[in-house]
Amino acid sequence: MDLNQEITRRRTFAIISHPDAGKTTLTEKLLLYSGMIRTAGMVGSRKGQKAASSDWMSMEQERGISITASAMQFEYKDCKINILDTPGHQDFSEDTYRTLTAADSVIMVIDCAKGVETQTRKLFEACRLRGIPVLTFVNKMDSYGKGPIELMEEVESVLGIPAAALNWPIGCGKEFKGLADRAKNEINLYTKAKSGGAAKPHVDYMDVATAQGNDKISDEEIASVREDLELLEMAGNEFTREAYLNCKVTPVFFGSAIYNYGVEPLFDALVELAPSPAPRPADKNDGEEIEIAPDEDFSAYVFKLQANMNPKHRDCIAFLRVNSGVYEKDMSVLHHRTKKKVRLAAPQVLMAASRETLESAYPGDVIGIVNTAGLAIGDTVSHKGGFEFKKLPYFQPELFARVVPKDLGKRKAIDKGLAQLSAEGTIQLMYEYNDTFSYPFLAAVGRLQFEVLQHRLRDEYKVDTRLDMLPYTCSAWIKGDASKFKVPFNSKLVQDCFDRPMILFSNPWEKDYARKENPDHELLDYA
Ligand code: G4P
Repeated sequence: MDLNQEITRRRTFAIISHPDAGKTTLTEKLLLYSGMIRTAGMVGSRKGQKAASSDWMSMEQERGISITASAMQFEYKDCKINILDTPGHQDFSEDTYRTLTAADSVIMVIDCAKGVETQTRKLFEACRLRGIPVLTFVNKMDSYGKGPIELMEEVESVLGIPAAALNWPIGCGKEFKGLADRAKNEINLYTKAKSGGAAKPHVDYMDVATAQGNDKISDEEIASVREDLELLEMAGNEFTREAYLNCKVTPVFFGSAIYNYGVEPLFDALVELAPSPAPRPADKNDGEEIEIAPDEDFSAYVFKLQANMNPKHRDCIAFLRVNSGVYEKDMSVLHHRTKKKVRLAAPQVLMAASRETLESAYPGDVIGIVNTAGLAIGDTVSHKGGFEFKKLPYFQPELFARVVPKDLGKRKAIDKGLAQLSAEGTIQLMYEYNDTFSYPFLAAVGRLQFEVLQHRLRDEYKVDTRLDMLPYTCSAWIKGDASKFKVPFNSKLVQDCFDRPMILFSNPWEKDYARKENPDHELLDYA
């Protein structure tokens, strides 16, 4: 198969959701439908079940949650699917945002009872910022939740994007019988497989126009489906693939991941509608903005580093997304930042429950290599050099702390550890404004980042630490003369590790107040 065919059949995406909406369940169903696993029940590591494929760090195993942003690859209906696992626990971290930058599209999972929740909102914002198109899946229709119209309105009002239903639920809760496919004007009635969600359900298809009641659906229910579809035709948002690709509309699908209802139409839409790898923005060394097309020579960038995935060999894996050309095992490339040749050896691809070595990779694919070359997050590699892929933005930290060594004699070790771990992107370091000699403090978007930091300081740098949380809950970068900024009473002016002025607030109201009080400055949520 040639390069262009390989590009066209690639779909690289991430699933975003608030914890418990059903991301893990849906991932598992993708593996079931692609034939990667024969029965569902392998992926999740919840509540001490079998270990999940992403259980690499010991802490991850202790807590039974997914910390690493891992990638899995498999075939589905002639497409090569790369699914990027975004850490979705309550303690989500900057890795979640970074992973999104490696995705060409996103599936947003919403729990029908809870609607659009905080984490979903934040992650959707990051997608909007990067221009990543979003497919919406309203999950758990087998339980009682908000009505489909209310949910669509919530997506529109909370996220500010028009929603267009491509299918429509027939009943809900115990009476959730199936879906009406709007494009085909077809009713799909589901019957649970004997093994429940472990296998595909049986589907009966009926034409909406000619459907008649039977033992599975009554004439009244069919009449109500017709009414709903007519209403949608008249009052619903228009859907075009182009509008979806330009983030002007999100197509909405309903279903129940646990029983596999509505899962296949969603995956088929991913294949039919979601984009394959497109040109990626970059800056040439002279500052000119360019785009690197996927069919150009090989290039890739690092979106994540993961240390100590294998405790037996203190390794650090760099995850690169291939943006153009063909990667071949053991190839040597130019590391743009250091201008040194590096060998991209021992790549790994993760398939369901095992890691395999990869011979070649194409645009959209993720390669994990043992990082002996000192690759850092955001670094670009290629054959010719001369450009850098656009840097990933930093998102507003919301948690702040000081980390103090329990043994004060360990200052040197902790300094070294903090410098290394912040370079890897585990945590952001901040300093008193105009005083980089001050003892740094730490900032994160999720609490887990602190725990990972303490764990790694103990494990790798032999420093036991105490964490003192600071009373700030949000922050912003300041655009304008920081020395003239009127700092509210409980806020703090600081600078990040790139010397950019920032302000930390004890609550969002204070942030609003500061914004009003400083009309000549801009407050940025990402930089
Ligand atoms: P997450 O990765 O987004 O955090 O969600 P996950 O898939 O772990 O699902 C969270 C809970 O919601 C799980 O229940 C899961 O079984 C349930 N769930 C997922 N999809 C559906 C669905 O379509 N309908 C219903 N009714 N429930 C669903 P749990 O009790 O926390 O875990 P478990 O004991 O079932 O594993």
